[in-house]
Amino acid sequence: MSQTWQNLLEHKHKLASTSIYSLFEQEPNRWRKFTVSAAGLFLDYSKNLIDSSGMRLLSQLAEEADLKTAIKAMFSGEAINNTEWRPVLHTALRDLNRKQDLIVGKENITRLVQNSLKKMEQSVNAVRLGKWRGATGKTISNIVNIGIGGSHLGPNMVVEALKPYASPEIKSYFVSNIDSSDLCETLKKCDPETTLFIISSKTFTTQETLCNANSARTWLREKLPKIAEKDIIRQHFIAVTARPERAEEFGIDTRNIFPFWDWVGGRFSLWSAIGISIAFAIGMDNFRALLFGAYCMDQHFLTAPFSENMPVILALVGIWHINFCHMHSLAVLPYDQYLSLFPAYLQQLDMESNGKSVTKDGKPLDYATAPVVWGSVGTNGQHAFHQLLMQGTEPLPVDFILPLQSQNPLGEHHNLLAANCFAQAQALMQGRSQKEIIPELKEQGFTEDEIKNLLPHKIIAGNHPSNMILMDKLTPERLGSLIALYEHKIFVQGVIWRINSFDQWGVELGKKLTNKIAPALLGKKTNLDALDQSTRELIKIYNQKKPT
Ligand code: F6P
Repeated sequence: MSQTWQNLLEHKHKLASTSIYSLFEQEPNRWRKFTVSAAGLFLDYSKNLIDSSGMRLLSQLAEEADLKTAIKAMFSGEAINNTEWRPVLHTALRDLNRKQDLIVGKENITRLVQNSLKKMEQSVNAVRLGKWRGATGKTISNIVNIGIGGSHLGPNMVVEALKPYASPEIKSYFVSNIDSSDLCETLKKCDPETTLFIISSKTFTTQETLCNANSARTWLREKLPKIAEKDIIRQHFIAVTARPERAEEFGIDTRNIFPFWDWVGGRFSLWSAIGISIAFAIGMDNFRALLFGAYCMDQHFLTAPFSENMPVILALVGIWHINFCHMHSLAVLPYDQYLSLFPAYLQQLDMESNGKSVTKDGKPLDYATAPVVWGSVGTNGQHAFHQLLMQGTEPLPVDFILPLQSQNPLGEHHNLLAANCFAQAQALMQGRSQKEIIPELKEQGFTEDEIKNLLPHKIIAGNHPSNMILMDKLTPERLGSLIALYEHKIFVQGVIWRINSFDQWGVELGKKLTNKIAPALLGKKTNLDALDQSTRELIKIYNQKKPT
């Protein structure tokens, strides 16, 4: 344990009997000190149980982890993903006016990125201008993205978030689950003659995606029996993948294959051609604005001192909660209906990146890493799980996100939405003490005995931490900044925890075991003896009840 880590533990101990509320009294200009603006976003982190000296100590942790060098290493294309021997360069995908070459292996990736955008632009414009026709000559009006994980969550979240910018002529759908209900329900809404499928898969081996892609192809074949298969595939399928040869094997026309590269991690890929479903929906100008917002956050992250660096601050506050206050969850509560998919998107970004328990060089960790990320839009959550946030047995940190202007101004709705958001953050911090409750109950006519019984149920401990992220409006640019903020936050935490945030070996075991179990469920002769008793019996039950 480093001296700084030890100092932070002691600091936590010192603050144990303090309240967030009283920190405002101790530091009169706390709000000014504990707020920061960057790339069109504003972060208020004053409602956390941390003071200026605590923040300085946390900053020291970042210095000791050599965060500056790590940031440079990422942006310059060093192979920082050390278990897959790859650079991590999603930032290059939004650095569109870059003058210098960025060489990875022997390739100038600046040029690759520009060419990819041009290719995207041609197809996006062709579809949006009605020049791309389906095999029967009709224009395309349904876009179905088939992909999962990073090839689904980011694009789906962005298309939902930027609905106000979407063309009414194009309907966007996302199919990810291998559960056939997902595909079938989507296909019910689509006309085969006007539907374009995007098969999005970095590896082009993912079982769910290939299974859905094959069923989509069968659906088109059955619905358009007079059209030759090659025409169906050419006019109704595109692929986005880092393995173009596998997409070709599937039958996709090479002109309809959009490449991306190993140096773009799946969960960081919405900025690449994986974002083509976004571009179909909102057009290339808005897609570029999304990239620009992220670029602005990248520049801020690269250049701002740690004490004013929004992703670094958010990361340090998170580390304070996880490692020193032992709060292992993060509730993300956007007060914006359009951000309803943001918590689910962040789950993958954070938990797949930092859900690790060994250091980069393979040593077991003796401290916690990624929080459990969860949440949903406000105000809905207030009538569901906020009870636990207010009176559960442990404080759970919250990130509130609020655009100041509504996309659909209507009467008092937005004022009330914002009032709720600010009130929840305030309630978590200040709680409700018996001093406030008793006079109120007396006034309501309760007896001494009744008050004594009711009191413990009414007390709200308070002192629960939260961040507040504001932006003027949820535009493509601001959304780009918001996503990049969390990407970099997660990266910073990974550096301080000394883990590799860019691999995901943990997901492989389930895939392997599925491949072993599947034959037994597909009616193939399989020896189940090697399986544990529980799994074996579950397979038997399944096979007995399976429709023949
Ligand atoms: O199983 C996890 C994962 O590998 C994610 O990291 C990835 O985003 C997702 O599957 C989809 O992978 P692909 O784009 O290769 O289909």
